[in-house]
Amino acid sequence: MNTFSRLSALALLLSASAMPLAAQDTANATIHADQPGPVVQPEVFGQFMEHLGTGIYGGVWVGEDSSIPNDAGYRTDVLEALRAIKVPMVRWPGGCFADEYHWRDGIGPREDRPVKINTNWGGVNEDNSFGTHEFMGFAQRLGARTYVSANVGSGTPAETSQWVEYMTAAAGTTMLAREREANGHRDAYKVDYLGIGNELWGCGGNMRAEYASDLTNRFAAFAKTGNGPMLKIAAGPSDADYEWTDTMMRISGKYIDGLALHYYTRPRMEKWEDKGPALSFPEAEWASTLANTLNMDEYITRHSAIMDVHDPERRVMLAVDEWGTWYDPAPGSNPGFLQQQNSLRDAMVAALNINIFTKHAERVRMAAIAQMVNVLQAMLLTDGERMVKTPTYHVFDLYVPWQGATSLPVELDTPEYRNGDIAIPAISVSAVRDTAGAVHVALVNVDPNQAHPVSIRLDGVNARSASGRVVTASAMDAHNTFDRPDVVAPQDFSGARVSGGTLTATLPAKSVVVLQLR
Ligand code: AHR
Repeated sequence: MNTFSRLSALALLLSASAMPLAAQDTANATIHADQPGPVVQPEVFGQFMEHLGTGIYGGVWVGEDSSIPNDAGYRTDVLEALRAIKVPMVRWPGGCFADEYHWRDGIGPREDRPVKINTNWGGVNEDNSFGTHEFMGFAQRLGARTYVSANVGSGTPAETSQWVEYMTAAAGTTMLAREREANGHRDAYKVDYLGIGNELWGCGGNMRAEYASDLTNRFAAFAKTGNGPMLKIAAGPSDADYEWTDTMMRISGKYIDGLALHYYTRPRMEKWEDKGPALSFPEAEWASTLANTLNMDEYITRHSAIMDVHDPERRVMLAVDEWGTWYDPAPGSNPGFLQQQNSLRDAMVAALNINIFTKHAERVRMAAIAQMVNVLQAMLLTDGERMVKTPTYHVFDLYVPWQGATSLPVELDTPEYRNGDIAIPAISVSAVRDTAGAVHVALVNVDPNQAHPVSIRLDGVNARSASGRVVTASAMDAHNTFDRPDVVAPQDFSGARVSGGTLTATLPAKSVVVLQLR
């Protein structure tokens, strides 16, 4: 650069910094820690595991005889990693698999269990070696609550009611309780959530909402737990299907405790067969993915408003029990296994969704990311004896303090991130007060090109400093592999200051920053 161009570049820089544009680049917010808010139920950080690809077999369950280190058949590396992020609830066995699952196939000696074809996912053999006892043992090892999805599509109310009795009847009481004991577990299991079918409008039986509601009432009537509360979750809508919500709430609202909502983020929404790749995507697909993620806010708002009409006390929860990214299958993988890599973009999607759930904590009291290991937006990827934590895992780790904390109201005035026709808020914020009284703030900068300063007024917080961790990387599709497991990993973030009741920080481009105020 010659002297002239150096000077003009300097002049440009100086004038740019004096222009209103610079001020617009700052996000201004207020956290109202002095106002009441709903509790973010720990179950909002729930996870979904389905008999699908290597989500269970190989990813969680390897059997006692495996050379892969295990605890009674469960991978020890996976158990350890999931315990560290305090998985609060696990949903099983599906998904679409649930409405073809017959629970008796998965109890008793493993060698006697029938082999079936998994018709939903890849047409592979399902040997049923992971069944009710194995699921309960897994949840118990994680200290997680249990969410069991019953078969409504191809099952009967009697089958569901007997399954619930088998799992929950007190020891030594009914024949089914004795059968459970004969199969190795004397004490009643606890079923915290019972799903009444899954996607009954689709793979669960292609039903009309009216018919699905009648069936829901019938199944719910005969599923009686013998062991503490069991919340019944109806198969709810997908995306913007508001009619489904209206009908289910009108006909079934008083018989259920929750309505499921499923929404998957895809970079390309036009054609289901063409979702876009998980890696090596253009910036336009970074932008579309994050813009599509933000639809979750509108879906929750509008489904909740319909629920409010039928349930003004908000007794029935909206359970977002399938959410996350869904891309084209990983090159060379079985398309029925829904394997995909997980990059920094997925970290953004996870953090945006969690901020949305925090805002709607009063109605969204449970959620489950799809899925836990090796499938869709997974926490962990495995290959034989190797395991790697994904960027999504690290976001769940950062947000652990949100579990059971109080959601604090946030007002936000943010610059936009623009790409082509897309313009979305560059910054997303959520804040909580944990049960010990500490305030935590999550800040997401979705802009892949520009750092953004934030200035946040702290009403009702007496803090003098803030510190925490950041997840970021230089490439939009930065990801972890078995050979390079720490490309995307949390780093300490010391760039935040608190002065005169205001928190300031500069958020790196494409980053998730979580801070604790002290
Ligand atoms: O998570 C994969 C599948 O997505 C589930 O089985 C189904 O419920 C949904 O369509």
